[in-house]
Amino acid sequence: MQHLRHCQGFAQVFLIRSQSSKLSKSVIPSLSVWGGHLSSRWRSTGGHEKQEYNERRQKFRFALAGLLAGTGAVLAYKLHQGKVERATTPANLPVAQTSSLPVYTLEEVTKHCSLDNGVWVTHKGEVYDITEFVAVHPGGDKILLAAGGALEPYWALYAVHEQDHVLEILSEYKIGVLNTESIKKQESANPSDPYSAEPTRHPALQINSLKPFNAEPPASILSDNYITPSAIFFKRNHLPVPRVDPETYRLNIEGLPGVVSLTLSELKSRFPKHTITVTLQCAGNRRSEMNKVKQVKGLNWGVAAISNATWSGARLRDVLLYYGFGPEVAAKAQHVQFEGLDRDVTGTAYGASIPLNKAMSDEGDVLLAYEMNGEDLPADHGYPVRVVVPGVVGARNVKWLGKIVVSDEESKSHWQQNDYKGFSPGTDWDTVDFKSAPAIQELPIQSAITHPAEGATVDGSVGEVTVKGYAWSGGGREVVRVDVSVDGGNTWHVAKLRTSDNSQDPASPPPPGKAWAWKLWEIDIPLPYRSQELEIVCKAVDSSYNMQPDTFAPIWNLRGVLSNAWHRVKIKVSQDLKDQK
Ligand code: MTE
Repeated sequence: MQHLRHCQGFAQVFLIRSQSSKLSKSVIPSLSVWGGHLSSRWRSTGGHEKQEYNERRQKFRFALAGLLAGTGAVLAYKLHQGKVERATTPANLPVAQTSSLPVYTLEEVTKHCSLDNGVWVTHKGEVYDITEFVAVHPGGDKILLAAGGALEPYWALYAVHEQDHVLEILSEYKIGVLNTESIKKQESANPSDPYSAEPTRHPALQINSLKPFNAEPPASILSDNYITPSAIFFKRNHLPVPRVDPETYRLNIEGLPGVVSLTLSELKSRFPKHTITVTLQCAGNRRSEMNKVKQVKGLNWGVAAISNATWSGARLRDVLLYYGFGPEVAAKAQHVQFEGLDRDVTGTAYGASIPLNKAMSDEGDVLLAYEMNGEDLPADHGYPVRVVVPGVVGARNVKWLGKIVVSDEESKSHWQQNDYKGFSPGTDWDTVDFKSAPAIQELPIQSAITHPAEGATVDGSVGEVTVKGYAWSGGGREVVRVDVSVDGGNTWHVAKLRTSDNSQDPASPPPPGKAWAWKLWEIDIPLPYRSQELEIVCKAVDSSYNMQPDTFAPIWNLRGVLSNAWHRVKIKVSQDLKDQK
């Protein structure tokens, strides 16, 4: 509907000139003509050409769908495709003045906002005809949102689209440029930046992407605190942070006998407040190491897309039971879906789901959290309410929670169905079938070194090196041991584990199957005689004796998730020690 409003809006504002209808006929064949053109091309050029055409269609499908649907995954598909010819514009000159292509007015572009009239879009003063893509792609309705106008407002939501490979694809459909007056008109009409109300962030955070905001703390400070301060807790947002008014906030619950719409104060007052310490880890933590084996698609996270906090709130189980969850609902339902209040341009919310038994189990400890580290949730972490699903991948811990649905189906969300799944190293973007793999829930055993840093020089005269890090496992499995080596894995030492910031007052061990929080570890290891360079390695073991794989190649996957091979850090040893020996 939104695209119709868009078209109608423009149509009312601008007069449709008769000249442009001639233009549109000459530049854009009707759909039937396209069909004829394509089939005659297949007839005349044979199988090879047909295959080439199919590949081109694939390119449209993934890349242009991503232009508006906003998934890094589909967009990045283009990376493995060959380069295409790109029309270039000399720097510093307005497009309209330098191009030999036809010059259009905004009015002419605006008329092409439907399949019948052709689908044109503009980007940085250039005009593109993407009718062919929209005609063959079933998801083309989303692209129609921008039809007859500028891509920029939509791309503003997904800054990731402003990448060379996306622009290369778009350039294949370039048909002309806007005149200077139209460019000015567009610039003045551009809606405000959807990211203009983002919260302020701590300057120590290392930013992976600004819009949407994704950042991790420097590894060196991550393990300074058992409880990660909220300001430096890693932040993973797919969309702009929604600003939610706590007074008007409602949590809607569906799939129970009655209609439930809960206020924030009802959530706080009606249910006992539980506080638990839970580590959240992004599925893409340590993706940068997997990237070194072969390029994967996604944000290039280091070792710190993981953090640990105390979370307080009502137990999901208590809330669902209170509002009528019983044997009748249980007989039909298998999943609990969550929907965030953050939405993309099409109005689609971030969403995910977890198995019903995790949500309802007395042991599951799933929280509708309204506090983090003893304070209201910060805006970046889901204010006013988020789900905290202990032991489960960060993606299912839905922030800015607006809706819960008890259902017989998993969430239909892109992030549940077409992302955050693992595949064989042999699966590539041409062969991947997202339906064939289950959504990631519990994460595997993980550990990493936070000190010393890669490339650091340690003082050899001290005779030993202090190594620090974290270890955590999904599903409530407790980390029972961390092995550390300073000779690339030939000999091993067992690190000391800690579960609080106060070594005098260690926390009591978690009940079996409920180790939701990480363990920090530390060890002083003697430097090998006359060493100049060391490869420090760590690996953890959990209570099910799961261990990390030694290398990334066998666990490589196209999205770079579940990246948990031994962590290796190379350091140098200063001369002093060798001089003394
Ligand atoms: N919930 C909403 N509504 N929107 C999001 O973008 N990102 C998910 C999850 N919940 C996300 C969300 C992902 S992928 C992760 S890893 C965690 O939030 C990150 O939580 P954090 O930002 O509090 O560290």
